[in-house]
Amino acid sequence: MSDTLPGYDEIPYESFPITETHPDRLAVIGRLFGLSCPDPARARVLELGCAAGGNLLPIAGYLPETHCVGLELSRTQALRGAALADALELRNIEIRHQDIMDFASEGEPFDYIIAHGLFSWVPPAVQEHVLHVCGSRLAPGGVAYISYNTLPGGRQRSMLRDMLLHHARSHTRPRHRLAAAREMIEFLATPLESEPPGHDWLRGELHRLRGARDSYLYHEYLEETNDPLLFSDFVARASDHGLQYLADTQLHTLFPSTLGAAAESSLERFDELVDEEQYADFLRLRPFRQSLLCRATDPLTREIDLDGLLSLPLYTDLAPDADGILRSSAGQSFQADSPLLRAVLDELKKSFPRARNLADLLPAAVERIAGKAGSPAAATGPLMQELFNLFISGALQFTLCEPGARRVNDVQPSTKTTDRPQALRIGRLLAEAGENLIPTQRHQALQLDPVSARMLALLDGRRDQVSVVEAMLTAAVRDPALNRLLGNKKPERMRAAIQARLAQLLRLLQRHGLLETG
Ligand SMILES: C[S@@+](CC[C@H](N)C(=O)[O-])C[C@H]1O[C@@H](n2cnc3c(N)ncnc32)[C@H](O)[C@@H]1O
Repeated sequence: MSDTLPGYDEIPYESFPITETHPDRLAVIGRLFGLSCPDPARARVLELGCAAGGNLLPIAGYLPETHCVGLELSRTQALRGAALADALELRNIEIRHQDIMDFASEGEPFDYIIAHGLFSWVPPAVQEHVLHVCGSRLAPGGVAYISYNTLPGGRQRSMLRDMLLHHARSHTRPRHRLAAAREMIEFLATPLESEPPGHDWLRGELHRLRGARDSYLYHEYLEETNDPLLFSDFVARASDHGLQYLADTQLHTLFPSTLGAAAESSLERFDELVDEEQYADFLRLRPFRQSLLCRATDPLTREIDLDGLLSLPLYTDLAPDADGILRSSAGQSFQADSPLLRAVLDELKKSFPRARNLADLLPAAVERIAGKAGSPAAATGPLMQELFNLFISGALQFTLCEPGARRVNDVQPSTKTTDRPQALRIGRLLAEAGENLIPTQRHQALQLDPVSARMLALLDGRRDQVSVVEAMLTAAVRDPALNRLLGNKKPERMRAAIQARLAQLLRLLQRHGLLETG
């Protein structure tokens, strides 16, 4: 085995927070099914194939009492991850340049093991070792997360991959193969006089790939290995390593009712959960899964304890608009007709990213809709189910830990230009290191435009807003690329544009709790 992966060295995978992999998310799902999960805030976390640590660094950064280990075979990516950990002065993370195959099966157990975007993209022997590591190093009550491409839905992408691979076959350098793939995407977009069946999907996929990052296109479509597998085969292979299927991070897929009444009744014929989910995959033509596993000896329950779940603090960034549509900061929309639900979500929105206990915020929400005479007990029946529905749709989260609780910002960003805004160090330093996907306390990736990313690096609490704007203007005079990004305007108009961008950035950072309280 080589001591690096040249494809990932030349075209590094753009790694960033994968929200669903966060130990807090895994622990809440584990708890939902009766698992006694270790405290995510003090957990030992292992990530296999961690690239440059875009997912693991923020877990370590926001949960300083965790101990995080990342393994990465691409030398360039592993060194970058280790350098970022040093720059962030994180003492609780170790990013190793190491082949997963060399990771020992004996040693201290890990509470959470993460393997995102790895399993389908490595040869069978590495896949087996990933399962072996999970089986031998997962702690009791621990959760392993493994994502992979699935059959049958994955065959559609395999078809497109076959065509891109064919077109790139004469090239060996990754950059040249990528250019050939982009050329092929344009060829495949050639309009046809009448569209053969199946082309709807192809059109959509080509549109998605035209906007895709190079690293995604290359590693998803042009890598030597990309093998989708059946969910039921994955579960059977995991069980050979002493692991059992816990759940999927896409919780709605665990409930056949989300496929409609006819599908729900058709799926009733299956007694075993794994069969039911496999046949649901057939109905959905599902191409991808994010499976959670735990030790086969850990007891689980499939009866959901709604009261237990609702006793946990919860958070959401959903904002109800005038039509009753709820929108998340990621642009997803959800329906909420009940006034009480909307009032509860409004209260949660005010606290985001902090979580609140339902019992604490309910009186204020009830009062808002019913006046002081309102009775929480009388109004809450349907609310519980509505909150649960939002939870399984991914719109609302329960939590077992409060990341960076000491730092969460309750202060509104000041409009006074004399204030000296200070962004959390992790965001500032990552922006300074050229990253434009900034991790939030709730493990989301905030995509910043290049100008905002440069401004974020300047928010160190030593400059007031006027100085930040002036520093950006000075930089734009020296740097033609920045000047272009700012529209090559005259200084006065450029100043106004930067001021507006700064105000927008401060609002965004405030919304996600990324400003220091000072
Ligand atoms: C598609 S990338 C996903 C990266 C990251 N997990 C993410 O989702 O952003 C797969 C990663 O696994 C790494 N990898 C592949 N085979 C490996 C092995 N045998 N040992 C360690 N890392 C490996 C690759 O270098 C690459 O960084």
